[in-house]
Amino acid sequence: LSLDNVFDADELYAFNQRVCAWLNMTESPVYAAEPKLDGLAISIRYEQGLLKQAATRGDGAIGEDVTENVRTIPTVPLQLVGENIPEIIEIRGEIVMPKAGFERLNQRQIAENKKPFVNPRNAAAGSLRQLDSKITANRPLTMYCYGLGELQGMDKPVSYSESMKLVSSWGCQISPELKTLPSVEECLDYIKQLGERRDSLPYDIDGVVFKVDSTALQARLGFVSRAPRWAIAYKFPAQQEMTIVEDIEIQVGRTGALTPVARLKPVFVGGVTVSNATLHNQDEIDRKDVRMGDTVIVRRAGDVIPEVVQVVLSKRPSNTVPFTIPSLCPICQSEVERIDGEAIARCSGGLYCPAQRKEAIK
Ligand code: IVH
Repeated sequence: LSLDNVFDADELYAFNQRVCAWLNMTESPVYAAEPKLDGLAISIRYEQGLLKQAATRGDGAIGEDVTENVRTIPTVPLQLVGENIPEIIEIRGEIVMPKAGFERLNQRQIAENKKPFVNPRNAAAGSLRQLDSKITANRPLTMYCYGLGELQGMDKPVSYSESMKLVSSWGCQISPELKTLPSVEECLDYIKQLGERRDSLPYDIDGVVFKVDSTALQARLGFVSRAPRWAIAYKFPAQQEMTIVEDIEIQVGRTGALTPVARLKPVFVGGVTVSNATLHNQDEIDRKDVRMGDTVIVRRAGDVIPEVVQVVLSKRPSNTVPFTIPSLCPICQSEVERIDGEAIARCSGGLYCPAQRKEAIK
């Protein structure tokens, strides 16, 4: 299944109006809201409470069998526990790699001279597709449930929120952010509050999913091709985009510190247009091997200064050269000094250097 997207309040109101019109209702239905997780869709089949099979979405009809790998994920129960467990139930959800685990994994990859992952989503996907489930077991994966598929031996729960309560009572993890909201205004308030907390959540999210809560109303609304008429994704602006390093310039600070700055082809990321990103110092440039002409992934989270996450090596033109901070100050041509053990290179010109003088006066 897929979800239709909206990007602002007007589009969300329009979605609600379509829902009301279809249902012949004058008031909006209750919506269930939860984060749209940026991971990998998974479907897990339990028979008599035992985990029998786990599959990825694949082409929508045939997915990959990732049962052995999913069995290693601590938040996925091998056996459902508790009351009234149906004969057969297919539980759907998203497998994600929390941000902290992702950072640790990438540090490990770098230490072992392996390629770091571009983002937690790719890391989660790569981890789940391992042929050796021992490798998957060492990856910090977790699952949040967001839906049911096949169900036998039990009546369908009356609402989405009830179905998630049940799933949770059987030992599956659901989003702690799941709420039911009686109006579009409250949906908009939920978006605002979650948006403010986005950076401090333990996992990446790319928006909010709203679902008509009532199962009966969902059935009346049905589907258009693969997208349910009863659900919508409100997408946040992307925090990570690709762009091109058009130039690398050196900025001279008040104390003579030289900072390399990537001048980027302007790109809309994290809700603003970004055209510069600091490259910090030579060590950082060496570590990421950022060169003029490279295609890079730029990330902007919250108020953080935009950062070059990684070079997309497959898009590197053939004529690029590694970048080195010059040995003479680009403003006053004085010698550049770098004290052993220090990351920062400095112009030795002092107040003779127009750039240092300007910053000092400022
Ligand atoms: S509901 C019919 N809920 O987003 C409903 N999906 O763009 C489909 N996703 O394939 C699933 N978080 O992989 C739902 N809280 C959430 C979700 C979620 C992430 C993914 C899911 C789906 C994709 C659609």
